[in-house]
Amino acid sequence: MCGIIGIVGLEPVAPRLIDSLKRLEYRGYDSAGVATIEVGRVDRRRASGKLRCLEEVLLAEPLTGQVGIGHTRWATHGAPNLRNAHPQTAGRVTLVHNGIIENFAELKAELIAEGRSFESDTDTEVVAHLIDRGLTHGLTPLNAFRQTLDRLSGAYALAVLIEGENDLVMGARRAMPLVVGHGDGEMFIGSDALAVAPFTNRVSYLEEGDYVAIDHNAARVFDAEGNSVERPVRIVSVSAAMVEKGNYRHFMEKEIHDQPDACQHTLSAYLDPIARRATPPGDFDFNSVDRLQILACGTAFYAGMIGKYVIESLAGLPVDVEVASEFRYRGPALAPRTLAVAISQSGETADTLAALRWCKSKGLKTVAIVNAHESTMAREVDLMWPTHAGQEICVLSTKAFTAQVCALTALAIAAARTRGRIDEVEEQRLVQVLLEAPRLLSEAIASEDVVRSLASMVGRARDVLYLGRGAMFPLAMEGALKLKEVSYIHAEGYAAGEMKHGPIALIDQETPVVVLAPSDSFFDKTMSNLSEVIAREGRVILITDEAGARHAPAEARVILAPACDPLIAPLVFAVPLQLLAYQVGVFKGADVDQPRNLAKSVTVE
Ligand code: AGP
Repeated sequence: MCGIIGIVGLEPVAPRLIDSLKRLEYRGYDSAGVATIEVGRVDRRRASGKLRCLEEVLLAEPLTGQVGIGHTRWATHGAPNLRNAHPQTAGRVTLVHNGIIENFAELKAELIAEGRSFESDTDTEVVAHLIDRGLTHGLTPLNAFRQTLDRLSGAYALAVLIEGENDLVMGARRAMPLVVGHGDGEMFIGSDALAVAPFTNRVSYLEEGDYVAIDHNAARVFDAEGNSVERPVRIVSVSAAMVEKGNYRHFMEKEIHDQPDACQHTLSAYLDPIARRATPPGDFDFNSVDRLQILACGTAFYAGMIGKYVIESLAGLPVDVEVASEFRYRGPALAPRTLAVAISQSGETADTLAALRWCKSKGLKTVAIVNAHESTMAREVDLMWPTHAGQEICVLSTKAFTAQVCALTALAIAAARTRGRIDEVEEQRLVQVLLEAPRLLSEAIASEDVVRSLASMVGRARDVLYLGRGAMFPLAMEGALKLKEVSYIHAEGYAAGEMKHGPIALIDQETPVVVLAPSDSFFDKTMSNLSEVIAREGRVILITDEAGARHAPAEARVILAPACDPLIAPLVFAVPLQLLAYQVGVFKGADVDQPRNLAKSVTVE
């Protein structure tokens, strides 16, 4: 994840670019850079390392332009060095980017074949060349920009300067956030409201696929089809900008929508998109252990169960997963060369911390997959494997969950390669699949309207069943937990094949059954289970993809998820489950972000 800012100002803009980047450093700080335009000429200053390194460069070589862009980088494509620092330049175009351009390799080959040369290893530079190519073909800046956006696959938030265009910064977003700040004779674009909070509290939020041209007097916004659109201007209090809900009614909704960003940022700590390699932070050697013992609670426990399915099937490494509150009290027989793996959003959950300390006292090596990087767990383990979901305000965990699953999936690929279960080609294929997750998460959010139409059906139920096979089984349990937490409706997640061994007695017209069934190797069997439910007049909500939907019985209400590789189905199918819980909570008028009896971090056993 990176932070970007663009300003069309009335005074030298470099100090304000730096001010804004300081507020965005939480999004990454491997390198930073700014560029300004003055009398048509673009000047750039960059530095690897933290923002203060860039400030030193600017002290030595100041910039005086009143229009400019800035970037603080969390390296995804290319090492965090000066060459790969943003802004990136090609011909008349200078730009900054947050996200991953998934098809950058083929675009780069196309551009090189046309005789263009590249300075960096980044995917971002490809975007600059595409816009510049459009300009050399006589397109206007906006048309060159739009033509470029149509060629890109993946996730982006962009801010662009064009040589010769003194009063213009262009921006665009897909799967990555971007806001417009409205000043007095000045305009701003930034990664979030926090970025522009020092300059204005009037903010509008660009929507998926939007692009924008800002000048001193206006922001011209266009949707993905190129239609001119208006996005409402909201007043955001500067203090709330720190953790603001933006356009969303609840933090839960915002954090569901934050997931493409959170997952992309988490993956960039484990995956090298250039080499298509998966490497655990701290270069852990998976040949140094014989099994993993995952310890967690609640949603984190279900992430751990998904991790078990992926790690064992890919790497052949035995994985035990237990709720932390039970583990140490049952006198577990610990095998030698076992790695204790805690999973926790807060890093403060007492049950998990106690189990982790118990493992440490028995001489096990300990790691934590944790979102709070300064937490007790993070400080006590031998090795931290971070998630980068950002601050999660809603008591219900959503983006932290998918970030945990991202980390576990990347670790599974790394373990499989280290243990010789997959070759380099298969590792590259799996890494490419995982790199597509942020975009597919964003596409999964598009099911929101269909989900909303089902909220009343679920919201009036007394009991709800969730069914799934394979990794969809722990996901079914997570979906049930989300519903319980937000709506106080009793819900249970079951292995679909287990339903006929008892829970089928619960089936009647009053009990909705949510069935998770991507069109994978389990699909036909899961459809048989679904038919057993319908035969007993059960009401089924089927979450599947296009191929699965073609085989859905007429009685089932279908929620479509994007087609995806089975490796990332637990990520993609988590979104409709989260949206369903959220919409049911809204339907019931629940206190969505702070349900009764719950706490964000349970620091008592
Ligand atoms: C998640 O929706 C719940 N709020 C809860 O189950 C949570 O996952 C659990 O308490 C573990 O918290 P942690 O991830 O901070 O350790």
